[in-house]
Amino acid sequence: MIKSTYYDKIAHVYDQTRWLTQSIAEEVADFILELVDATPETSFLEPGIGTGLNVIPFIRRGYSVTGIDVSQPMLDQLRQKLSEIPQNLNLIHADASQLPFTDNSFDVVLTVHMVHGISNKKIFLDDIARVLKTQGFYLNAQWITPPARMEFERHFRAIVAKYEVEQAPKRVNKVIEEINVEDYFRSKGYQSNYVIAKEWTVSNTVEELLSFFQLRAYGLCWLVSDEIFPHVMREFEKFCIEHYGTLETELSSKAKFEIWAYTAS
Ligand SMILES: C[S@@+](CC[C@H](N)C(=O)[O-])C[C@H]1O[C@@H](n2cnc3c(N)ncnc32)[C@H](O)[C@@H]1O
Repeated sequence: MIKSTYYDKIAHVYDQTRWLTQSIAEEVADFILELVDATPETSFLEPGIGTGLNVIPFIRRGYSVTGIDVSQPMLDQLRQKLSEIPQNLNLIHADASQLPFTDNSFDVVLTVHMVHGISNKKIFLDDIARVLKTQGFYLNAQWITPPARMEFERHFRAIVAKYEVEQAPKRVNKVIEEINVEDYFRSKGYQSNYVIAKEWTVSNTVEELLSFFQLRAYGLCWLVSDEIFPHVMREFEKFCIEHYGTLETELSSKAKFEIWAYTAS
């Protein structure tokens, strides 16, 4: 059975509270197509496809795209963006920890903000290497949080920490070795290449960011109960007025779409 995650609860506000716009995603897609030397036959797999922010440009341009996600509501958001599911898109509602594909199936496997959530990375990375074609590319990417938002988040974290109740440590049945993705692919003889696909400026007023937190759009908003959360938000809003002067203050900083590209040498 597929367990529900907090993405089920935030799927409807995911896109609006992130900062990868459709036009930036188009530019990133251009960059990736050049990076992997794409032909019209190039096939893509995105485990943890979410609402499709990264791959919609590939789908619209007719590339073969397969996406897997454990969250049905995230997949539903993706479906709503397309008038109908095109022939070149295969969406699978499943846990991507083990990939249900035969060996040598894809030219490009893309993960974005996803690998950290996989409990047994060794099995997952073995599987990525297995489903990749011989000359394929594994792109492990992230669009990092712009510094101004990061700072905003740190202020929230400091307040929420005061309300957090100590959780009993979870029972861990077996220790799973933590794996570094870079080390893993290098040890398998892959070449690695770090590239920045795109840098862009993200601007939001304090009021707008507060409204995103009010929607509980981020994992750290779920560290406290439904009863406690309004107290945290009241204290945070008070802090913001004192710290930023007014809720109309604009916070601007640069976001980056970073990619670690691995290919068999
Ligand atoms: C931070 S979101 C990123 C979504 C998308 N890649 C993006 O960049 O917007 C992480 C996504 O990975 C999915 N996910 C997390 N663990 C997963 C797993 N084991 N199998 C499939 N999907 C998973 C979540 O449901 C969520 O949609």
